[in-house]
Amino acid sequence: MPVTAKGLEGIVANSTRLSDVRGDVGQLIYAGYDINELAGKVSFCEVIYLLYNGRLPTLRELGQFEGKLRHLRELPKGVVDFLQAAPKDAVPMDVIRTAVSMLGLYDKGTPDESGLDKNQIMRRCLDVTAKIGVIAAYYHRARKGKSLPPVRSDLTEAEHFLYLLNGEVPAKEAAATLDMAFVLHADHGMNASTFSARVTIATLTDVYSAVTAAIATLKGPLHGGANEGVIAMLKEIGSEDNVIPWLEDQLGKKKKIMGMGHRVYKVLDPRAPLLRDVAQKMTEQLGEAKWLRMSEKIAGYMKEKKDLNANVDFYSATVYYSLGLPTDYFTPVFAISRTAGWTAHILEQLEDNRLYRPLSEYTGPEVGLTVTPVEQRQ
Ligand SMILES: CC(C)(COP(=O)(O)OP(=O)(O)OC[C@H]1O[C@@H](n2cnc3c(N)ncnc32)[C@H](O)[C@@H]1OP(=O)(O)O)[C@@H](O)C(=O)NCCC(=O)NCCS
Repeated sequence: MPVTAKGLEGIVANSTRLSDVRGDVGQLIYAGYDINELAGKVSFCEVIYLLYNGRLPTLRELGQFEGKLRHLRELPKGVVDFLQAAPKDAVPMDVIRTAVSMLGLYDKGTPDESGLDKNQIMRRCLDVTAKIGVIAAYYHRARKGKSLPPVRSDLTEAEHFLYLLNGEVPAKEAAATLDMAFVLHADHGMNASTFSARVTIATLTDVYSAVTAAIATLKGPLHGGANEGVIAMLKEIGSEDNVIPWLEDQLGKKKKIMGMGHRVYKVLDPRAPLLRDVAQKMTEQLGEAKWLRMSEKIAGYMKEKKDLNANVDFYSATVYYSLGLPTDYFTPVFAISRTAGWTAHILEQLEDNRLYRPLSEYTGPEVGLTVTPVEQRQ
């Protein structure tokens, strides 16, 4: 008897050794490591290696892997031209989605993965992982009418992204903060965009198409956009004194408070306290404690009145804001990090591929209708 589950809720669509979200105990695991064990101890590059290979690299392996990624950063000229020609007021996620799709045009390999050439698939996964941050940063500079600095191979993923975005090598603390955010967002079970990537690659289309589908899915406000909403909310509230009256007003109108609650975590999202600690450090350094104090007040009130916990987006918003990232780049930063997870899932899907083809429950009219000639139809 087929099972019907709206939104596939509660359905196990496949198995994965990459990550596990344990919503009942508030645990996130990457390949056997609790996220609390990894955060602050490993770099984003080590996490990409972990997801691709199922284990952390040795020093030598890490050096080789970093070298490979860093030498793939340069974008094809056609993609750079597109980033410079794209409308200045476009949604960055739309531009990034289009540019990642364009990368496929400049790849001389076979047009799909039906030959299952492992070297080609891995090269494409590394290619898109190495280039997505460059695409995002270049578009920001292009829309501001600024020059595009040449890519460098002596900087980490986080350093390089901030360097391209701002035109100068970032302070160590800023790069370490972004690196930590990349680590925390790299993978998260069978979320919508990861599922999209797996469904797409399972047809044996190409890696660029699968990542393009994932970016398109992440763009939606039910998935990647909540952290931008958090900053909009903090700005609207404006002052610490206004936090409680504002929340009472919104909850009275049955409005959802951005950055609160989670579909899977019924206890605290384990990434939230890690980001709160980073946000605290950053605001102390920058002397801008107001946003964090307001955030803490919101979180305390929501816990007390609605028994709702802050999710990852609640504090990542404050962290990104303190880093000086443009608000409409919060979701692109998520996409840069999640490309690690998407491509690792693509590799895993292709190891033991099976086309996704669920059934649907037909709710149309009973069969037996007859066709009335078009000129006689009412
Ligand atoms: C993430 C989210 C979609 C999860 O939804 P969910 O698991 O379906 O939660 P429910 O809608 O079942 O909510 C249960 C109750 O908590 C309330 N609730 C859930 N999230 C809330 C929020 N952010 N603000 C206010 N109330 C909220 C619901 O209104 C509901 O109350 P009710 O029982 O009185 O109707 C939801 O919490 C939300 O919209 N959060 C804000 C957006 C956000 O931060 N998204 C990023 C997630 S990482």
